[in-house]
Amino acid sequence: MSRFLIDHPRTHNCGELRRQDVGQSVTVMGWVQNYRDHGGCIFVDLRDRFGLTQIKFDPAVDADVKERADALRSEWVIGVRGAVVDRGANENPNMSTGAIEIEAQRLEIFSRAKTPPFQIADAIDTHENLRLKYRYLDLRRKPLQDNLVLRHEVMRVARNYLSENGFLELETPILTKSTPEGARDYLVPSRVHPGQFYALPQSPQIFKQIFMISGYDRYFQICRCFRDEDLRFDRQPEFSQIDCEMSFVSSEQVFEVMGGLARTIWKEVGGIDLPEQVPQLSYAEAMERFGIDRPDLRFGLELKDVGAIVTKSDFKVFRSVVDGGGLVKALNAKGGAAFSRADIDRLAEVCTLYGAKGMAWIKIQPDRWQGPVAKFFGDEVKAELTEACDLEPGDLLCFVADSFTVANAALANLRLAVASKLGLIDADKRELVWITDFPLFEEESEDGRYFSKHHPFTAPHPDDLHLLSEDPTRVRSLGYDLVLNGQEIAGGSIRIHDGAVQTRVFELLGMDEEERNARFGFLLEALAYGTPPHGGIAFGLDRLVMQLTDAASIRDVIAFPKTQRASDVMTDAPGAVDPEQLAELHIGLRLSESS
Ligand code: AMO
Ligand code: AMP
Repeated sequence: MSRFLIDHPRTHNCGELRRQDVGQSVTVMGWVQNYRDHGGCIFVDLRDRFGLTQIKFDPAVDADVKERADALRSEWVIGVRGAVVDRGANENPNMSTGAIEIEAQRLEIFSRAKTPPFQIADAIDTHENLRLKYRYLDLRRKPLQDNLVLRHEVMRVARNYLSENGFLELETPILTKSTPEGARDYLVPSRVHPGQFYALPQSPQIFKQIFMISGYDRYFQICRCFRDEDLRFDRQPEFSQIDCEMSFVSSEQVFEVMGGLARTIWKEVGGIDLPEQVPQLSYAEAMERFGIDRPDLRFGLELKDVGAIVTKSDFKVFRSVVDGGGLVKALNAKGGAAFSRADIDRLAEVCTLYGAKGMAWIKIQPDRWQGPVAKFFGDEVKAELTEACDLEPGDLLCFVADSFTVANAALANLRLAVASKLGLIDADKRELVWITDFPLFEEESEDGRYFSKHHPFTAPHPDDLHLLSEDPTRVRSLGYDLVLNGQEIAGGSIRIHDGAVQTRVFELLGMDEEERNARFGFLLEALAYGTPPHGGIAFGLDRLVMQLTDAASIRDVIAFPKTQRASDVMTDAPGAVDPEQLAELHIGLRLSESS
């Protein structure tokens, strides 16, 4: 260890010194941000995560120290002992420490640095893969440091809030059995049990329910979840949740406590007041009005089902889609009659990107309806559409006719594109909404199996229990999501606490008794030993931080993220392993040509 650290322990960080410190003898340490040679003096901006401080190496103060400073280069790590002096007229108002500088009397070089492959600056134009390979350098940049500091703040505030509200922070295993959340599992081979595998948790779902069965009443954990799924700008294969569970509660009580958590985080970390009252919207209503279960409520532009009206027109496409069980929905792009043909083509492309066969449109001109399909609409249909879609001269009416899924997906995305084009999205606005009453199951597959919309432990709505046998796709669940400005930030449900209902749901998911017992026998048995009604939720921590920092990518709020192809280019994971290691794990590889 350098004697310098013993003789001159650090007295201040690089963001701390102000004019009132002038005259003090101080020791600071950090990285050389830049150095300049001015009239015989060397000036260095010294950086640590707290800020920058200017150091002056003046031959008149100490010729020897100044001479050694000549060698300094960017990213060298040094310690400096010296006196704080006033910069007077040379004050830099853009720097928090800009009123002072340190006149160096001692210099210690802790380590030299190679020239970094990119500059350690706020805005850099460097390919992300290079940033990820040299993540330790990327993490020196202030925007990333700010994001990670804020992430810490979110975790701290969440821990405090939940602890104050009677939640215990309890841990659950990482080497476990499959905990289905709809993605593929990451598997870990067992050395001791040949041919057997642990699964990494997709979430702590089953364990947190078991904590309720064991009487812990309120649980939380800031935990890592692992899901092998296709990655996107807001999805990582391992990500973090603020995971919570509560006993003896209804959805309303979960909404109250968890709405409070969201409000506290936004207030304390972002200084932002989220609305006190959070509206609730059923899944069915969200789909009808916005075409999506995570609507952005910062603007209107609601969708209208116009099937009953337009089937009276002469446009055959609409009639045939409705006859085939599909939908015709319309969006009134207010003021869109001014859009050019190229603008409209781009909007139509949004619809086709989401699977629609086309986007029919009509410009509502003061004297006539204009567009390729206008001719098919008679006066009666025009009057009904005007009423239903609140049409006025200057509007652009867009239609998509397709299946429920495609028509809604296309129009939900068209709605966002139109809002963005019309400048209706207010970046400073925050609209929260609870989406409730999700269907319990996704549509039935061809082999008669159902799939859980949320996860298999979500309780059916008590009013729909009879439908479990009659018509499972119509069963609503007690599942809910919390949506902020069109992004799902948390999801949860009231759980099944009755073993018979849980067994029935497993049956509908296509599990026979053998499979049920093999996969979830322990849960079914635990449910039989006295289970309180319970429910909970998990916030996506990374997504909360993205929202609070306005980060464009989830990778900018995670210290060591994976690429879109799920690899870590810094450590080069995943990687090959020794044949001996594989043998020990009883694994033989059979790679196909394509791999
Ligand atoms: P769910 O699967 O909805 O619920 O996940 C909860 C929240 O986690 C975030 N999230 C993700 N964030 C980043 N990358 C991913 N791949 C990813 N997947 C999900 C989302 C989501 O809202 N056990 C249940 C919770 C419960 O029922 O209590 C669960 O995991 O923000
Ligand atoms: P066509 O009669 O096929 O030339 O289509 C006339 C207009 O209707 C075009 O603008 C198409 O993009 C649009 N269109 C075609 N199919 C659909 C559909 N399923 N839903 C909405 N618009 C459609």
